[in-house]
Amino acid sequence: MDASAPSSAPPLIDPFQRRISYLRVSVTDRCDFRCVYCMSEDMTFLPKADVLSLEELDRLCSAFVRLGVRKLRLTGGEPLVRRNIMSLFRGLGRHIKSGALDELTVTTNGSQLAKYAGELREAGVRRINVSIDTLDPAKFTAITRWGKLDVVLDGLRAAREAGLTVKINAVALKGVNDDELDRMVAWCGDEGHDLTFIEVMPMGDIGPNRLDQYLPLSLVRSRLSEKWTLEESDYRTGGPARYMTVKETGGRLGFITPLTHNFCESCNRVRLTCTGTLYMCLGQDDAADLRAPLRASDSDTVLDGAIREAIARKPKGHDFIIDRRHTGPAVPRHMSVTGG
Ligand code: 5AD
Ligand code: SF4
Repeated sequence: MDASAPSSAPPLIDPFQRRISYLRVSVTDRCDFRCVYCMSEDMTFLPKADVLSLEELDRLCSAFVRLGVRKLRLTGGEPLVRRNIMSLFRGLGRHIKSGALDELTVTTNGSQLAKYAGELREAGVRRINVSIDTLDPAKFTAITRWGKLDVVLDGLRAAREAGLTVKINAVALKGVNDDELDRMVAWCGDEGHDLTFIEVMPMGDIGPNRLDQYLPLSLVRSRLSEKWTLEESDYRTGGPARYMTVKETGGRLGFITPLTHNFCESCNRVRLTCTGTLYMCLGQDDAADLRAPLRASDSDTVLDGAIREAIARKPKGHDFIIDRRHTGPAVPRHMSVTGG
């Protein structure tokens, strides 16, 4: 069936009357960085044989589009390290051209942006999220273990030249970048990037104790408002961030606060892994296998049924906690499996 044809399918509505309109797809769990809050240094990755082909990923994404998904974000791991990934972007770009999809976006660590910014734009991507937790080159390498800040900054320049709008994602890390968040607000203001701070989430075993990393954004916000005038804003991007406007720079500042403020009530998202497992919630273990129904037949009838059945199981929300009694992972999988 053609996903670009006008859809007569009933929308995907979960048991809490939330309409599912946003699919995030982790196209690979691999990455060329090893961020300390995301991965352990010696990660075990999924066997390549379990990973869906790019054609299968296109077919799966297109099924969701046909069922009413209006926004697709490709993530990872690092999506741009997957071989030939531009063919998937170009393929999915047809849904932007047909009007079936409002937005095709990507979350990237920026290491390959210099190479791909132009092609992303041509495929129909307009906005990208780039993860940068610090502007200090030595600290950047310490956090990412394998990354180089100047390569990412080159990528940002390429993105600008290609006409992509950039939002910077920064995870707030106690004792690591808390002295710099103010400088990041200023820098993003100068560069014209929106900025979102994220609370560290207890996903996967990463070695160090999460309590040592966790910095509540309520604290960050009150510190920042000593220096900046933060004005309430009703700007939304369809994701979980709540935005404020920084009066002095005119820039937008978002806060993703899974721990201090649970945002599940308005959740419109589900997440697909590169093996075709659908997680209905970032913070819960329940998942549905879509690979078997995908491969069961060339028609999408079985697949559509499996998607609807999965959405009918979407839980009310996550229950992330980090405190002295809860220092371990709330879910065993790392963020790189389901994507941010
Ligand atoms: N908690 C919060 N954010 C995380 N990210 C990766 N792992 C975690 C975690 N455990 C972030 C990345 C990126 C986004 C996709 O998710 O830094 O910005
Ligand atoms: Fe890679 Fe992103 Fe995880 Fe860092 S946070 S290791 S860039 S997937």
